[in-house]
Amino acid sequence: MNLMPVLAMNLILLVITILLILADRLLVTYGKCKIKVTHGDESRELEVQGGSALLGYLTAHGVSVSSSCGGRGTCGYCKVRVVSGGGPILPTEELFMSRQEKADGMRLACQVKVKNDIAIAIPDLLTIVRQMALNKKFDTTKRWKVTIH
Ligand code: FES
Repeated sequence: MNLMPVLAMNLILLVITILLILADRLLVTYGKCKIKVTHGDESRELEVQGGSALLGYLTAHGVSVSSSCGGRGTCGYCKVRVVSGGGPILPTEELFMSRQEKADGMRLACQVKVKNDIAIAIPDLLTIVRQMALNKKFDTTKRWKVTIH
């Protein structure tokens, strides 16, 4: 069996992918973007140069968001509620979201690219624990899921 056409096609796809990534990084500029962060009763606004993941900006500005995979989108702990400006949910995020969480606008901060002004709400730990207790859904053997109402 001749594998040359398959290898050639894969090589072409690889080159196109690399060119698209380079074009996105070098040619696309998103300018200054504002991130409005609400955490409990507190609210603050960050001004950043757009184009990177939300989690990185939050971490750089001292906003604490749970994370155990370093932003690779594999742990599902960096959930925040995007109030506006986050764009559509990505397939990589859907794996970690319940239907209710998707309806509530929950997103993975490491997967949301900041391209324009964005407003988010970060659930505080007390709210998370209280919600788990009220719903009697706390199960230490399962991955926790947060729903904000
Ligand atoms: S940091 Fe692990 S999924 Fe976002």
